[in-house]
Amino acid sequence: MKTTNNKPIVLITAGPTREAIDPVRFISNHSSGKMGYAIAGAFLDKGFEVILVSGPVNISLSHTSLRVIPVNSADEMYTACQKYFPVAQITIFAAAVADYKPAQVYTQKMKKSAHEFSLQMVKNVDIAFEFGKIKRNDQVSVGFALETNDEEQNALKKLYSKNLDLIVLNSVKDEAATFGYDTNKITIINRDFQFQAFPLKSKAEVAVDIVTAAIKVGQKQEQ
Ligand code: CTP
Ligand code: CA
Repeated sequence: MKTTNNKPIVLITAGPTREAIDPVRFISNHSSGKMGYAIAGAFLDKGFEVILVSGPVNISLSHTSLRVIPVNSADEMYTACQKYFPVAQITIFAAAVADYKPAQVYTQKMKKSAHEFSLQMVKNVDIAFEFGKIKRNDQVSVGFALETNDEEQNALKKLYSKNLDLIVLNSVKDEAATFGYDTNKITIINRDFQFQAFPLKSKAEVAVDIVTAAIKVGQKQEQ
């Protein structure tokens, strides 16, 4: 699937999501968006048209072939992706999507009371899982798995349940490979159970490894 300027399209989700509690409060996570943005940069270098659906981050990236779509919540991220997924040759799910959201969003700022307060949470849409259900044979999808235990087993479960072509396993054993750092240590796993382990590298270098692996899957599909 190509754009009018004949460039292949990649859809990337990046950054955290924010799940509103009331107009001034939200639940979120520490994702910096650095990995997703680095992947966007690497795809731009390879001549792709990049659609970057991004949660709130402190990074700015601009390029004539880049469209950044800023979103807050997981629901907004999912809706924004729906328009582009069908035309994307490759989709990279790099966002740290909040797994839960408050069951109700208060329309007015909640007031402090004399009592304790608890929040009921409901499950968010699993964006990668939903698109996995409608992915075509000519599309490539890549997900991430950040694990603390049973790493490979958990990553493989995600690879198959979300119908991904590749899963990028992030080990949090190494502090320099977690949120906010400029470095990352990954293993890329494909559906043939092949594990490609990389040393600790800059996120820009890791991005090139991920992009190269994703493009390779696409080329195999074409054969
Ligand atoms: N993902 C997503 N939508 C969600 C949750 C996750 O698109 N609501 C994507 C992430 O972008 C990532 C992959 O799914 O590419 C795995 O995310 P992760 O949080 O590791 O897995 P979960 O399925 O949410 O399971 P858990 O958090 O319990 O490990
Ligand atoms: Ca999760």
